[in-house]
Amino acid sequence: MTNPSDATLVIIPTYNELENLPLIVGRVRAATPEVGILIVDDNSPDGTGDRADELAADDAHVNVLHREGKGGLCGAYVAGFQWGLERGYTVLCEMDADGSHAPEQLHLLLDEVDAGADLVIGSRYVPGGKVVNWPKKRWILSKGGNIYISLLLGAGLTDMTAGYRAYRRDVLESIDLDELSNAGYIFQVDLAWRAVSGGFDVREVPITFTEREIGESKLDGSFVRDSLVEVTKWGLTHRLEQVTDAVTVGKRMISHEYRHWKRARQRD
Ligand code: GDD
Ligand code: MN
Repeated sequence: MTNPSDATLVIIPTYNELENLPLIVGRVRAATPEVGILIVDDNSPDGTGDRADELAADDAHVNVLHREGKGGLCGAYVAGFQWGLERGYTVLCEMDADGSHAPEQLHLLLDEVDAGADLVIGSRYVPGGKVVNWPKKRWILSKGGNIYISLLLGAGLTDMTAGYRAYRRDVLESIDLDELSNAGYIFQVDLAWRAVSGGFDVREVPITFTEREIGESKLDGSFVRDSLVEVTKWGLTHRLEQVTDAVTVGKRMISHEYRHWKRARQRD
């Protein structure tokens, strides 16, 4: 029997991850030897791109996409998705290079895809999910942001900003990837939301997210504000559509009742 995950590509975006890159690639190769790896490097000043080329030269499962300069995480993933779709992969995954997403847990996501899911999110906030080594402040910000997003969009997901994911190719093919916003983490929410709105089967599995030990986070605080403003706009539009739909249904019901009442009166 064949499973969708038989042709899986794990996309690993990098910007200044020289020390982390060989570690993460080694762990993916050991944990899931059958999957392909694509490193998407944005011309990292620390030489991560050259290190990626060396890893690829030694191993046919490892590929590299070089981009001109730091173009943001969304752009790196979109380029990676397009690369993988063109080459016929049936499942495309997102994974950070810094060890926050354990390659040893990738099979949890892939098994769920094989069980029928279209998009699987490795979630920190479903029961069983964990975050290790985050300062309390960052946890509150992320958890709080996710509660806000979930209340507003009502997508039924606990971790829409998460960056550990497995997509069936159909999901990505159904989305105009050029439309996604490149600011901060918002494209993660956008992709999950588009998948849910498109009627795809989106599921969460619990994972343990471990904060990086080497190097620095590339995303600053402004993303929180930008992301929340953007999500608020979508949420309000969505709620407005729901209200408009309710009003339309209400109007139809009233005019139906009215016609009924008029006919009954004419008969009397
Ligand atoms: N190519 C490329 N270009 N890679 C980038 C860029 C970029 O502009 N910016 C960041 N990266 C890479 C990093 O090198 C790392 O491998 C990965 O993207 C994640 O970047 P981090 O800087 O470690 O992100 P984080 O830990 O703050 O954010 C994580 O958690 C978020 C939710 O809390 C990520 O998993 C996000 O995807 C997730 O939304
Ligand atoms: Mn990180």
